[in-house]
Amino acid sequence: MSYINTPIAFQGDYAGYSWEIFNGDALEILKRLPSETFDCIITSPPYFWLRDYGTPGQIGLEDSVEGFVSSICDVMDETQRVMKKTGLLFLNLGDTYYSGKGQSKGIDKKSSKRRFGLRAVDKSGGLGIGLEPKSMIGMPWRVSIEMLKRGWTLRSQIIWYRKASLPEAVLDRPRRSYEPLLMFSKSKKYYFNRKPLEETEQEDMWTIVSRAKSAAGLGTAPYPDELVKRCLDVGCPEKGIILDPFMGSGTTLRAALENGRNAVGIDLNSEFFQFVKKELTELGLKNVL
Ligand SMILES: C[S@@+](CC[C@H](N)C(=O)[O-])C[C@H]1O[C@@H](n2cnc3c(N)ncnc32)[C@H](O)[C@@H]1O
Repeated sequence: MSYINTPIAFQGDYAGYSWEIFNGDALEILKRLPSETFDCIITSPPYFWLRDYGTPGQIGLEDSVEGFVSSICDVMDETQRVMKKTGLLFLNLGDTYYSGKGQSKGIDKKSSKRRFGLRAVDKSGGLGIGLEPKSMIGMPWRVSIEMLKRGWTLRSQIIWYRKASLPEAVLDRPRRSYEPLLMFSKSKKYYFNRKPLEETEQEDMWTIVSRAKSAAGLGTAPYPDELVKRCLDVGCPEKGIILDPFMGSGTTLRAALENGRNAVGIDLNSEFFQFVKKELTELGLKNVL
């Protein structure tokens, strides 16, 4: 399967399933993909001002809350078009705190990916929407509400309890231990397999050990394969085709291929694209040997 023929696209196969990846802006690439193609979309976009992925045009470093919400929702509009009527979207999107504290004095020793100039969330002025310093911005809710206005149906907010994640260094509020996984549908009737949920204690709270480190030190903030697998089990028919418009290190694609699905991924960062290209090619070779 090949949608477009460009030097920034690469394709391969694994155990009879095909994969295709694109290096470019999610919105631009999506516009070139045909409508009603994908059974399931599983993705984690950049969070607001959490990381610098080092690529001009990246989402996440907008000046305003509104700017971020529309960047994400514009991409989601296109994912809605390319998703089949029977499809589901699983969107893993966490929140950011508004600090309003001005320029940070120290250096974040943990990650060069988190070294910024003055972040929009540190500037005074309540981000132009009257936020008090130290407040959560409420980004998952803001994005969800905008997506509802744009025709999505929000069917569930699954709590991903990030077991064994590194505790935050805060003393005056509970440390965060979970992230939302928002499940949206395009139509009233869609593919959904309840069976795997019946074996679990809580259907909408998934306890999954968070990944300690990103693959090969890439700094993509990867989610665990298990999270993708659970989305596939409930939301993607066997041999179906999935899409991740923010593939990072390619977790969604790898988990999809290993669980009998075809996969398409997009990322703006060429280093991440090359990494996924190499990893999935090697995976395919290992399978043949
Ligand atoms: C949270 S990471 C995804 C991590 C991924 N789930 C994994 O397991 O590795 C978000 C990704 O979005 C990419 N990105 C940022 N802006 C983008 C854009 N405009 N188009 C496509 N990808 C973009 C970043 O390069 C980064 O790899």
